[in-house]
Parts: sequence; C-alpha cells; structure tokens
Amino acid sequence: MCGIIGYIGKSKAAPILVDGLKRLEYRGYDSAGISTINNRNIIVEKDIGKINEIEGKTNFSKLDGNIGISHCRWGTHGKITRENAHPHVDCSGKISIVHNGIIENFSELKEMLIKKDHKFKSLTDTEVIAHLLEENYNGDIEQAARKALQQIEGSYALGILCSDEPNRLIAARNESPLILGLGKNENFIASDVPAILKYTKKIIYLENNEMAVLTDKNVSVKDINGKVIDKKIHKIEWNSELAEKGGFEHYMLKEIHEQPRAITETLNGRVENGNVNLSEEINLSEQELRKIKRIVIVACGTSWHAALAGEFMLEELAKIPVEVEYASEFRYRNPIIDEGTLVIAISQSGETADTLAAIREAKEKNAKILSIINVKGSSIERESDSVLYTYAGPEIGVASTKAFTTQLIVLYIFTLFMSGLRKTLDKEKIKGLIERLRKLPLQMDALLNNDEEIRKIADIYKSRKNALFLGRGVNFPIALEGALKLKEVSYIHAEGYPAAEMKHGPIALIDKEMPVVFVAPKDIYTYKKVLGNIEEVKARGGIAIVIATEDDKEIKKKADHAIYIPKNLYTLSSILAVIPLQLLAYYVAVDRGLDPDKPRNLSKSVTVE
Ligand code: M6R
Repeated sequence: MCGIIGYIGKSKAAPILVDGLKRLEYRGYDSAGISTINNRNIIVEKDIGKINEIEGKTNFSKLDGNIGISHCRWGTHGKITRENAHPHVDCSGKISIVHNGIIENFSELKEMLIKKDHKFKSLTDTEVIAHLLEENYNGDIEQAARKALQQIEGSYALGILCSDEPNRLIAARNESPLILGLGKNENFIASDVPAILKYTKKIIYLENNEMAVLTDKNVSVKDINGKVIDKKIHKIEWNSELAEKGGFEHYMLKEIHEQPRAITETLNGRVENGNVNLSEEINLSEQELRKIKRIVIVACGTSWHAALAGEFMLEELAKIPVEVEYASEFRYRNPIIDEGTLVIAISQSGETADTLAAIREAKEKNAKILSIINVKGSSIERESDSVLYTYAGPEIGVASTKAFTTQLIVLYIFTLFMSGLRKTLDKEKIKGLIERLRKLPLQMDALLNNDEEIRKIADIYKSRKNALFLGRGVNFPIALEGALKLKEVSYIHAEGYPAAEMKHGPIALIDKEMPVVFVAPKDIYTYKKVLGNIEEVKARGGIAIVIATEDDKEIKKKADHAIYIPKNLYTLSSILAVIPLQLLAYYVAVDRGLDPDKPRNLSKSVTVE
C-alpha cells in the first residue's frame, strides 16, 4: 500500500532513494517519484510505471541534494497518472510531501482550501496535506506539520520537506507503518526495514500520532502535541543480503528456494531433544493456556489459508475446537468471544489493516491475542499479548511463499506444544512427530532441485484460461493456496475446492481445456476418495495433474501428469506439497511473460481496509 523512503545526510539523496524504492516496490508499483532540496529549491521528478521504467525516462536518480523523500504508489484516490503520483507540492512550490494511507476528511479539507485559493493539481487525498502545511506555515515546518496533523482524519505515514528549512526532514505516522533508520551522519525514514537495511540496522518504530524531526546528526520524536518521547532503538537481525535477489531472476523464485533455510530457522531452538520449547516465547502462563477452550484464528489471503491448515492441526492433535475467520469479516458480525477463547492472528507483514482491526475487536471483548508474525516490530505484534515469529526473513515478492510454509511450521509446533500441555499426545508421540518434522528442510531441498516436470507442465498449460485445484482434509487449504498463487501471478482464473465438493457444481466446468491440480499425497484418510475424484475428472475429458507421494504407482496410471513429493506424515506432506504449487505458478507466470514479483493491482501489505 505505497512505499516511502526519505534520506538526510552527507551523501547524494537520489541514488539512495531510488535504491530504497526498488526494495519497497512490492508495496506499490503503479507510479513513483522523488523530491529533493537543492540550493533551497524543491525538485520533483515523478511518473507512472515501475521504478526501472521511470529511471529510464526521467532524471530521477540523478537529482542533486543531500535530503529527499520518495514514494512508490498503489493508488486509492485518483487514477494512475503522473499528476496523481507522489510527491505532491503546495502552491508555493516550497513544501513537498509523500504519503501512505487515506485521508478520510480530504473532501471537506479540499473544499476549505479551495475557498482559500489553493490550486490543486491532482485528484488525490494526499495533496490536501501539502496545502494544509502551506496554510499553517509560519517559518517552522515542524509547527506547521503539527497543526496540519491535528486537522487530518485518517491514516498516514508521511515524509515532509520544506525548501526554506533544507536541514530538516519531518516524518509522522498514524495507522500506516513508518520506521526511522539511524546512521552515522545520516538518517532515514522508510515504510519497511528492507529499504534501509543496507545502510543501518538501528531502527526506531514510530507509533500512532507520533512525529519525528530528522537532521543528519539527530532524530527526535514527539507526540502530536509536541511532547518529547524517549524511543527505544531496535537492532535488526536480518542480514541485508536476504533482501537481495541473490542470483535468482525474481524474488519469488529466490524466496521459494529459501524455504528449507527459513523452516530450519523457524525450528531452531524451539524443538530440541524431542520437546517443543515455546514456554519462554509465549507470554501466556501455563494456567492461561490450559484455560483455553476454543481458538479463533483471524487472517487474510495466504495467511488465512495457513489458518485453515492450523485448524486441522489443532483439532486433530491438540483436540482444541478452532474457528477460522476472514479478518475482514470478523468485526462485522459481533463474534462470540469469551474468556476461554484465544484469538490467533496470522500475518506476514503484521500490518494488514483488516487483521489489525480484528484483533482490536477481539481485545475489546477481553480476548488474549497470540500473533504469528514475520516482521518484527509490526503493528499487530505491538498490539498482541504474545507473539510467535516466523523466521522467514524479509519477503519481498508480492506472492507470499516462504511466509506461508513458515506459518504452517509455527502452527504445527504450537499444536505440538499445546498437545503436550493438554496431554492429548504423549511424550514419545511428540518426539516421533518432531523427528519427521525435522526431515522437512532436506526433503524440500530435494524437491526444489528437481523441478523439470513442473517446468514442462507450466509450458504445456500456460495458455489455459482456467484451472481447478482440489484437495481434502489438510490438503484443501493447500489447494486453495495453489489456486491463489496461480491467479495472482499468472492472471489465470483458478479456484480451490475440497475435492468432494467438485461434484456439487464445479464438475460442470470440466472439459478438455480444464487442468485440474489434485493435491493427493498418500494417506490413510482421504487418498482413496481422491483417486475417485481423479477418475471423475478424467471421465469428463479433463486434465489431471496430481501431486503425489514418491512411490505412488497407481497415480501414474490415472493422471496425465504426476509431480512426486517425498514421503512424510499426512500433515507434513501437505507442507511439502506447497512447493510444486508455488513453482507451477511461478513458471506459468514467467512463461506468459509476466513479472511474478509485481502482479498487477496487488500490493504486498494491505494497510487500508
Ligand atoms: O501480511 P499478511 O500475511 O497479513 O498479508 C495477507 C495477505 O494480504 C497476503 O497473504 C496476500 O494474500 C498475498 N498476496 C498472498 O500471496
């Protein structure tokens, strides 16, 4: 939902800003722009398109000045035009701003400002802030910003420049993420850590209604009324190389290949000597955990699919009743939450507006919140009682891949932990499950290094218009995720269904043009039934592509294509089955000439409701 980066220091700002924008591009890529101050003049370069395209046609990365702000846009108000791209400038041309969020009272403010003769150049909500700053400016941009923010309603992460004060960069936040990066004789603002990881690992997280004034040597944070706030400096553990492509053509492919490492790191220190060790991380006492009678999981998109798999794990092994809710729907139906309910929020970014709103609703009803988060210091983490991190590292590709499998891993170990606590599984059983879990990274490695069949299938079916993804039990959410991956990066219409539901409707769609991807590892539960579903598809001329267990000869006879995964336990096999689905989506997108890292209309982190 738009990316912001700002710089003040001794170096030329523009190259740093362009480099940062490229790392933030996953947040929005319909247009982008930069503003710097040079010789007490505001300079602005902006255009529509992706950063590389804009770099080719403007002076973008060559602007002079040691202070600047920049923005990549995912439009909400106003079409994708050069005028609507950020930065926006006031009438005097002395103030420029970048904004991520939505100004809810922008129509009233605009009307008021037009009456005062302000001239608007764009159709964005953001531009009102530039004119409001101008209206309030009396030689002190910090003061003007404070007054303007008191008039604004809505969400914002803001970067502000004023040419009369070329040694100060102003930042402010309400409900949209913004961090401050502390360097040596240079300081930064950014929407997210990867944008500045190359320059500093010292971070301050701005909270709602906080403002910051940055000079090259100093950063001070105040609340909206001007009261100084003493902020904690966090040290980021992520390695800056994790935010690079590392020789892969796309972040998506790199991140798919990172999964064995990400899973190993997510397990490290948590499963040892046949035990799951989460007590120190979970900020809830054993007594509180034992009191849990029911779990409600809230999430969106891919994280919601992880939640569905988590429901299966928790009910099957820990015997706790679980309900999974779309975070966006949760607060609109007066959910029943009591003191026996634990609410789990799952989010890669920790910034998804709907998930944040859902946990706020749950907190109002006195629920305890446990979140499963990838980005440390995120808003959801800060509003939760307890957090379990997925150690996936920065996920830059818009399509979630390594975040999903590490979420499944955290859900699995949380399940084992709760099973031990509630004695639904004995020690020996848990030990055995952990041994099999430990095998996953190596098994994934083998899968990743053997993707010939998947490339072949992608090439054959790349031009199809529709696809179905079917699975049963824990493989149903995996099928949903396979369908989501394909549709978001290749724009092929894809649906995920529980395999048995096919005959209640979707079967009407089956013909010789329809590839049907079955997630069907061998198990004692539903495998035989899925074989029947494959027959049903074949009988109607459909194409069966089956993800099957390595020694499954039966499948070879029935399927048009079999993609084999190594043998593991039922639930753990479903985690392995994710890999071919991700690779299939990736190769289809690339074969169609699309950029899987920047699917149209999408943004990595949806910070508006
Ligand atoms: O950061 P979150 O996990 O809260 O994000 C939730 C969804 O927006 C996200 O999973 C989205 O569906 C991705 N595009 C999936 O690839």
